[in-house]
Amino acid sequence: MSEKQEKKKLRTEEPATTPPLPKPSKDAPRLLRGFKDLLPQDARWWYWAEDIARRVAREGGYERIDPPHLEDVRLFIRAVGKETDIVEKELFSFVDQGGETVALRPEFTASIARAYLEHGFVNQPQPVRLSTIGSLFRYERPQAGRFREHHQWGIEVMGDQHPVLDAEVIMLGVRFFKLLGITVSVEINSLGCATCRPQYREALVTFYRSRKKQLCENCQRRLAKNPLRALDCKEPSCQPLKEGAPQIVDWLCEICKNHFIKVLEYCDAGGVPYVLSTHLVRGLDYYTKTVFEFYTTRQGDTNETTSETRIALGGGGRYDDLIALFGGRPTPAVGFGIGLERVIGELKIRNATPPPPDRIDVFVAQLGDAGRERALVLIEEMRQQNIAVRASLSKDGLKTQLELANRHGATYTLIIGQKEVLDETIIIREMEGGMQEIVPYDRVIGELQKKLGRKGGGMP
Ligand code: HAM
Repeated sequence: MSEKQEKKKLRTEEPATTPPLPKPSKDAPRLLRGFKDLLPQDARWWYWAEDIARRVAREGGYERIDPPHLEDVRLFIRAVGKETDIVEKELFSFVDQGGETVALRPEFTASIARAYLEHGFVNQPQPVRLSTIGSLFRYERPQAGRFREHHQWGIEVMGDQHPVLDAEVIMLGVRFFKLLGITVSVEINSLGCATCRPQYREALVTFYRSRKKQLCENCQRRLAKNPLRALDCKEPSCQPLKEGAPQIVDWLCEICKNHFIKVLEYCDAGGVPYVLSTHLVRGLDYYTKTVFEFYTTRQGDTNETTSETRIALGGGGRYDDLIALFGGRPTPAVGFGIGLERVIGELKIRNATPPPPDRIDVFVAQLGDAGRERALVLIEEMRQQNIAVRASLSKDGLKTQLELANRHGATYTLIIGQKEVLDETIIIREMEGGMQEIVPYDRVIGELQKKLGRKGGGMP
């Protein structure tokens, strides 16, 4: 069929406009509240952030770990803490068919600490450096920036208490943001340890007890068991009290104080843009010593005012007692989690440009079923030779396929019609100038490699 005939056929085959989408019926299953589909149009941003995360982890010697999505609920209750929002209100937990109470993971650290113990990581050279990316589940109240399924890049260094590791981990996070072009500042604090924190707790309870009525209901209830939560509370009524509350840095024991000073010195040496945040406590109970959060600032302009919103893109800290809490020998550890939805939200708001999609070397256009069969074989052979190839094998029209080749940015299009199949040839079309040449079928890959400036060889 000639190109002219093809064009005519195409016009009759393809409607000019796409028909409107049918409306889903009222009882059609819908996306759950707080959940999102990650759609193809956003894929470039996700690939970008995930690729940078993996690269930063790999360069730092962090190995991949992927704990399961479902765990024994007691893992999170013990690790994260009974009196935390994550456990009290946000766990997706249920009794499974075998009668076990299980929970969808709300975070990675507890699972990775369990895995460290269960798989004898302690017998490997310490520290063990681990990295993971995946989705987490928290039954959050739906609000901006909070989803019931979100994704994190998590980093953990286990089996070494040296303060330089706290700085290493923080610098890794800063590097990730820098490579994506997001400016962050790091808020940092120390939460002390089992030796010094009880005294601080007492001081905090004494402070809040005389002001109990000014606290929100939740904080009043938690005051006896977990007074530190009041420092992390987002309720407006709890904010003014925080200012006058005792600061934990004044209560640190010698060991924790020295550790914190060293972390700050290493952060200074590494050029980390940090600020001390004396009331930073984080929402999980396992932390000891260093805690930190990565913040970025977003400018919002109304007609008359410029406002600034601070967004927590990630956070972490040291958790030296967690593995012992699970029955292991004392194993100091430090890590962070960075929220990828928030990172991607920032990239989009800043109009950052993700790297262009991978370039396509060759598009294969086929005409007729014999051409289609040949195309199937040829595509496989080209991929073996590391030629980046695309096709749209269900299509018939040449015009449509050439348009697709253009859209993919292919350098060459191979055209295989009935005639070419019979003649054992193939047409190579150079997309930029439209020049076409006919080559014998068995020489096409060699020709392409020459044109693309590649050596032959293919996959090992
Ligand atoms: P996290 O502060 O609970 O820490 O979460 C880390 C980050 O995940 C947050 O700063 C935020 O960017 C993002 N994030 C958390 N919840 C949501 C949500 N519902 N929707 C969207 N983004 C969210 C942890 O999870 C600790 N396990 C981090 C860690 C690792 N600490 C030591 N090692």
